[in-house]
Parts: sequence; structure tokens; C-alpha cells
Amino acid sequence: MLKELERKMQSEKSLLGGQLGFESLQKALQENRAVCIAKGAEIIAFGALWPRENCIELGSLWVATNHRNQKLGSQTFNSLVGMVPVGSVFFLITHEPAVVHLATKHGMIEASAGNWTEVVPWSASCGPCDRLCENQKITCPFRAVSLECRMFLKK
Ligand SMILES: CC(C)(COP(=O)(O)OP(=O)(O)OC[C@H]1O[C@@H](n2cnc3c(N)ncnc32)[C@H](O)[C@@H]1OP(=O)(O)O)[C@@H](O)C(=O)NCCC(=O)NCCS
Repeated sequence: MLKELERKMQSEKSLLGGQLGFESLQKALQENRAVCIAKGAEIIAFGALWPRENCIELGSLWVATNHRNQKLGSQTFNSLVGMVPVGSVFFLITHEPAVVHLATKHGMIEASAGNWTEVVPWSASCGPCDRLCENQKITCPFRAVSLECRMFLKK
């Protein structure tokens, strides 16, 4: 089941590929920092909390194509928010309108390009990104840009 999930998630352009390997998905589940909804033998929704420096990324939110727009994304997102340890800073990076809606609904505040590194260190927000190579990241033109990378966070 997890191998199939890995394959499907890896094919999504909006998801960060680096952390979607079988082993990291399995580890997230074993460490109780992932939400996984199954129907029969198929995983139909997934999301995980990824520990970063002094904060947590809520990410890898995914719903199977034929189960979208049925609130499974909302359900998964709500469960993940409920799993964040009290007092932790958590954030997400997205350009998906549905995820922007969920982040705002949960009181997460959007970062601007100017304050992007104020709460979440650069290495935590953009370190795992595989869109640009390391030496280009500091001048990344995609941060805080609609349809590119928008960061939402909650302290
Ligand atoms: C993004 C994704 C997880 C959403 O899953 P889903 O099950 O279709 O989402 P839901 O039906 O639960 O809708 C989520 C919420 O967004 C709202 N929504 C849906 N489309 C929206 C849109 N275009 N604009 C604003 N809000 C929208 C829904 O009304 C719902 O909010 P509500 O619970 O307050 O009513 C799913 O489309 C997906 O897996 N996409 C591919 C991977 C991806 O892009 N993941 C996100 C990476 S950040």
C-alpha cells in the first residue's frame, strides 16, 4: 500500500519529492506524525508532520484523484493540526487554493517575502525544497508569490 502511495505522491507536481520516499513515509507513520486514510486496500488520503529546526512543517497533503472535493483533505488537515504538540510553531508552504483556504481557516498567518525568515528559519522552510539548487535558494524568486510558494504559519 505504501509503495503505491509513494508512486502516486511522487507524480504530483505540488508535492516536495525529497520526503516522499517509502522509508520516510513509513517513518512518519511509525512515529505517529502522519494521517493515513484507507479504503479497502487503497490509501486514499495522506498527510504528515515533518520536524524541522525548532518547528514543524505540515506537508505532503494528498488525496487520491477520484476522492477529491469530498472533504478528505479537510479531514486530514484537521487531524494533522490536532497532532501538533502544544506550543510548537508549525508552517506549510503551498500554492494550492484549497490548502490556502484550510491554512487561513485554521488561523495560520501568511508570510511575506520580507518576513519569510522571521519565525521559520530559511533552512527549515526552503532547505528541503528541490526546485532550486542550494546556492540559488537565498535569492529565490518564488517565495511569497501567488501560484508559486506561499508560506502560512502559526505560533
Ligand atoms: C489539495 C488536496 C489535498 C485537497 O484535497 P480534497 O480532499 O480535494 O480537499 P477538500 O474537499 O477537503 O477541500 C479542502 C477545503 O478547501 C476548500 N476548497 C476546495 N477547492 C477550493 C478552491 N479552489 N479555493 C478555495 N477553497 C477551496 C473546500 O471547500 C474545503 O474547505 P472546507 O472544509 O472549509 O469546506 C488534493 O486536491 C490533492 O491531493 N492535490 C494534489 C496534491 C497537492 O497539491 N497537495 C497539496 C500540497 S500543498
